[in-house]
Amino acid sequence: MQIDLEHLHHWMQAIRQSNNPMRTMDAFWSGQLRSKEWLINCLDEHVHVQSTIDIHGGWVGVLASMIFQSNIPCSYIRSVDIDPLCEFTANIMNQIEYNSGRFKAITADMTNIRSDTDIVINTSCEHITQDQYDLWLTGLRQDAIIVLQSNNYNIPEHIRIAKSLDEFVEQSELTNILYKGELELPLYTRYMIIGQK
Ligand SMILES: C[S@@+](CC[C@H](N)C(=O)[O-])C[C@H]1O[C@@H](n2cnc3c(N)ncnc32)[C@H](O)[C@@H]1O
Repeated sequence: MQIDLEHLHHWMQAIRQSNNPMRTMDAFWSGQLRSKEWLINCLDEHVHVQSTIDIHGGWVGVLASMIFQSNIPCSYIRSVDIDPLCEFTANIMNQIEYNSGRFKAITADMTNIRSDTDIVINTSCEHITQDQYDLWLTGLRQDAIIVLQSNNYNIPEHIRIAKSLDEFVEQSELTNILYKGELELPLYTRYMIIGQK
């Protein structure tokens, strides 16, 4: 996908102004960007009307910015992250849309808030336990399109990896699966499911 120069400027501002630029740049490893490009290409086929989107575990806001630059018809994105440092950086990363009222980053635990958006994205499934995930799922609209990503990368901060796509499907507990797939990356395999409760 193409990143335009105006957005690139805000990406660089967000990195430079963030509390920890090296850590913020972790969001730009090619595996991270390829996973998000894959998500956008797959989600695009399922979104036909202007939609509102919640991104849970939205980190520093790169996925939101990439969606705004894609063909997905999107009127508003809220990015939710439990780490208070992410809010400031994500709002700068998406400064154009923040200024026009189409984007807002907030600090919250995804399991404590409800979502009334048309689409809910959680690419941080490996960062929450199954109990937290189950609670999280109850807070989403019955008809929401849910986009989930996880992986088989076994490192300490990943508290619930999936060892296969089938295992991830089981963990997801979605009944109407519109898409499922995997993406081979150098260090791990990323899994994705798009579906409804
Ligand atoms: C390393 S990042 C993103 C990893 C993910 N694979 C991706 O590419 O989007 C994981 C993010 O999830 C956030 N997070 C973890 N638990 C959370 C929770 N309960 N509620 C909201 N955000 C959470 C962390 O603060 C972090 O910013």
